[in-house]
Amino acid sequence: MEARIVVLPGDGVGPEVTREAVACLQAVADLYGHQFTFEEALIGGAAVDACGDPLPARTLELCRGAAAVLLGAVGGPAWDKHPRDQRPESGLLRLRQGLGLYANLRPVKVHPALEDASPVRPEIVRGTDMMIVRELSGGLYFGEPRMFSPERAVNTLPYSREEILRVARVAFDLAQNRRRKLVSVDKANVLETSRLWRQVVDEVAVDYPEVAVQHAYVDSFAMALVARPRDFDVVLTENLFGDILSDEAAVLAGSLGLLPSASLGGTVGLFEPIHGSAPDIAGRDQANPIGTILSAAMLLRHALGLTEEALALEAAVDRTLHAGHGTSDLRGATHPQGTASLGAVIRAALTKDPVKPLPGVLPT
Ligand code: IPM
Ligand code: MN
Repeated sequence: MEARIVVLPGDGVGPEVTREAVACLQAVADLYGHQFTFEEALIGGAAVDACGDPLPARTLELCRGAAAVLLGAVGGPAWDKHPRDQRPESGLLRLRQGLGLYANLRPVKVHPALEDASPVRPEIVRGTDMMIVRELSGGLYFGEPRMFSPERAVNTLPYSREEILRVARVAFDLAQNRRRKLVSVDKANVLETSRLWRQVVDEVAVDYPEVAVQHAYVDSFAMALVARPRDFDVVLTENLFGDILSDEAAVLAGSLGLLPSASLGGTVGLFEPIHGSAPDIAGRDQANPIGTILSAAMLLRHALGLTEEALALEAAVDRTLHAGHGTSDLRGATHPQGTASLGAVIRAALTKDPVKPLPGVLPT
């Protein structure tokens, strides 16, 4: 297959982690005989510095014409004092909205080799495997009116029935193909938006009689998420709650650096790790590339329909972690190493036959 992939390295550790993920996609292409072309473009602080706009028109245009977009991270202290539309984050938000991406899939899995990497006890995190579906185009992030003055500031949390319907369908479809459990997280005891959210989710549920549905308030869910994470399969929630809960869920996996995401719903999918630009370790070959490499696997699956290739890349990551490899953020790693070297080990572990034993290049 031929595919044109736009790569947006962004800021901080973004360039280092996307470099490894692109090399992994290239390795997959070589192994399976695909032709991927990679085109880099500017976003975030890097774009502000280069042309005064965190999402240059040319970047959005390139993305619109691509088969998929792979992004590193945006943001950093250099741009913290900029006005909102000149901040790196607003480039990412405009990209998500500009591509019509309303469903953000954030899988959270605890790898058996990393059960000790979490500050939460191993017997609690063991076997965790959930999919957070975060609404991505609405809610507080985009709600109008919004305003700031030194005396008063306003943000608004709107959701329309249609916006809830479309993301709920994505979540139910996923649940139908997983363990058939869905929990919808809201604050319906306080917020009107959440009352509507609940009603619409119940309406969609009628079409999925095999999926067991629960509703939870976000405060008590935040506690349940770390107290009994194994109980959850698909978690459906609005934009800001999903942002917060997915960082919390990352604690279960052992590091924020491990978690990938796929943003879907529009014509072109966007794939990015859930972590930020980590300016404190940028440029030091310390960042964990796995979140971005697993985002590349999601790109293969969701944007290109290459399921076998996605599984092969995920298996390479699995086996690399099993062998004790990992960047220093992973307390379970017995062979800690740098970003580039971990990427190389993952590529060396890549094979069309993922059940084959580890190749000799991997120390065990
Ligand atoms: C994320 C990030 C972004 C968000 C920021 C960088 C705008 O935290 O992808 O989770 O809040 O959505
Ligand atoms: Mn976030």
